[in-house]
Amino acid sequence: MLIRTPNDIPYSEVTPRATWVRRREFIKLATGAVAGAGAGLLLPDGEALAQTGQKLPGVKPSPLSTTGEKVNPYKDITTYNNYYEFGTDKADPAQYSKNFQTNPWTLTIEGEVAKRKVLGYDDLFSMAPLEERVYRMRCVEAWSVVVPWAGISLADVLKQVEPTPKAKYVSFETVWDHKAMMGPREIGIPLPYVDGLRLDEAMHPLTILAVGLYGEKLPNQNGAPIRLVVPWKYGFKGVKSIVKIKLVEKEPPSTWNITNPREYGFYSNVNPQVDHPRWSQATERRLGEFLRRKTLPFNGYADQVASLYNGMDLRKFY
Ligand code: MTE
Repeated sequence: MLIRTPNDIPYSEVTPRATWVRRREFIKLATGAVAGAGAGLLLPDGEALAQTGQKLPGVKPSPLSTTGEKVNPYKDITTYNNYYEFGTDKADPAQYSKNFQTNPWTLTIEGEVAKRKVLGYDDLFSMAPLEERVYRMRCVEAWSVVVPWAGISLADVLKQVEPTPKAKYVSFETVWDHKAMMGPREIGIPLPYVDGLRLDEAMHPLTILAVGLYGEKLPNQNGAPIRLVVPWKYGFKGVKSIVKIKLVEKEPPSTWNITNPREYGFYSNVNPQVDHPRWSQATERRLGEFLRRKTLPFNGYADQVASLYNGMDLRKFY
């Protein structure tokens, strides 16, 4: 009997598996992703372990890192992913994003700003000094992982574009290349993938735009070339492969909230007291560990971020 745990349940179960498997096979053929691998759908170990080989120079450790916790191995972080555009199984993104081209890239920062910015691929790595931030990450599916990101503070980037007084929220949009990626009907979510933060959340010193992992450029499955990381929120706020950042007046849409508003709210703060309608959020399984651990409010970052939500009913604003 197949017993399904929250870890096995995709966010959305609306897509018939056969549909996306067909599409996946097509992508595989089109990109030559597993040329020579016969009928096997799994990558050979060596390939799954390969790092990008693109070292990021001058990454400085940050005092804002989590301390005292064991960092997960590269393999955990890069082979157990959610990046639905490349498939809904945890192993899919590592396998099917391999040949996705992220250079050249254009990231536009616009909206309620005095100085709109259009950045190219190389600009992403030189916007501000790169810092290593070792963060605990907690997925809404009740697993967690400790990741040594390399990135820049989002606040530093936003200050450069000079938000106008009308800017109250920041929205983020992922690339959607329908030739290299799957489509909304196959994966059960609207595309492009979008999410947002309130401006004060975006300006918080813990919020970063990550461009690297383990001192190297991000691999595609983790959101190359640039992705959002907000360590006190469920991982789905970590919009990958960002092409647009827009400062706006009103609360922007969020992919999971559009898909299933009963299960996913705008705020998505890690809160062990608010269960997901289909499973408990009280505990979590750290990748690579057997025993579950207690989930901490705001994923352990309460001292730094709880004050952002003073006076808000966090059961209502989940
Ligand atoms: N970004 C895009 N574009 N598409 C996605 O499916 N999944 C989100 C988030 N960002 C997702 C995404 C979810 S559900 C999680 S848990 C994190 O990415 C996972 O990040 P990781 O693969 O680096 O652990």
